[in-house]
Amino acid sequence: MGNKHVKSAAESNGSSNSHEQQPPISSPELVNGVEAQPKLTEQQVLVLEETWKELESNISKVGVITFISLFETHPDVQETFLPFSGMELEELKQSKQLKAHALRVMQSVQKAIARIHEPEKLEALLRDLGQKHYFYGAKPNYVDLIGPQFIQAIRPSLEEKWTEELQEAWLQLFRYMSCIMKSAMEQERITSGVAPTN
Ligand code: HEM
Repeated sequence: MGNKHVKSAAESNGSSNSHEQQPPISSPELVNGVEAQPKLTEQQVLVLEETWKELESNISKVGVITFISLFETHPDVQETFLPFSGMELEELKQSKQLKAHALRVMQSVQKAIARIHEPEKLEALLRDLGQKHYFYGAKPNYVDLIGPQFIQAIRPSLEEKWTEELQEAWLQLFRYMSCIMKSAMEQERITSGVAPTN
């Protein structure tokens, strides 16, 4: 699939109405006060594997749109992401570092899908990523914001196939990824005694 279906952040997620278009960030389910680890059903795994095949060729663009939309709707996240603090939108769109991080996030999604049937390996990878993000100064609740932005970014490419079920499968994958990353961030905060960089 070509890139023509992926709209720019401004086209697909204009800042004037982007808040009302956002898929909801549902509160995590708690068990004994601890966030329960979201589970994917077999059907959701199939939907993810199927749709990822269609998205793969566009991941670089999808990643950039995800982060530009995130910064448009949540300027506080941009401020804590130090290399991007104070940058104008046009400058951000050209930023090589933004592109590089966006691509890394998409590669993490790719790895998550590739390891979806090997939960131990996948969890080890996500825990490692969470630990690193503690030191990068990413706040745990910022990690939760990526899924809904990603949904907005992929929707134009999958418009004809879009269903509630498809949307829920992707949201659940991001809830699963962020839950493990955040738990590792929290563990790092408790054990390291080292303050994050911002
Ligand atoms: C689902 C969410 C996210 C994923 C999967 C993700 C993934 C990654 C990956 C794979 C790296 C490279 C790790 C390395 O080997 O050093 C990275 C680096 C980084 N991430 Fe994230 N990230 C996420 C969210 C965020 C958020 C919300 C922030 C900040 C608000 C953030 C800030 C950073 C920073 C500062 C770096 C290091 C510098 C850089 O690579 O640009 N990340 N991220």
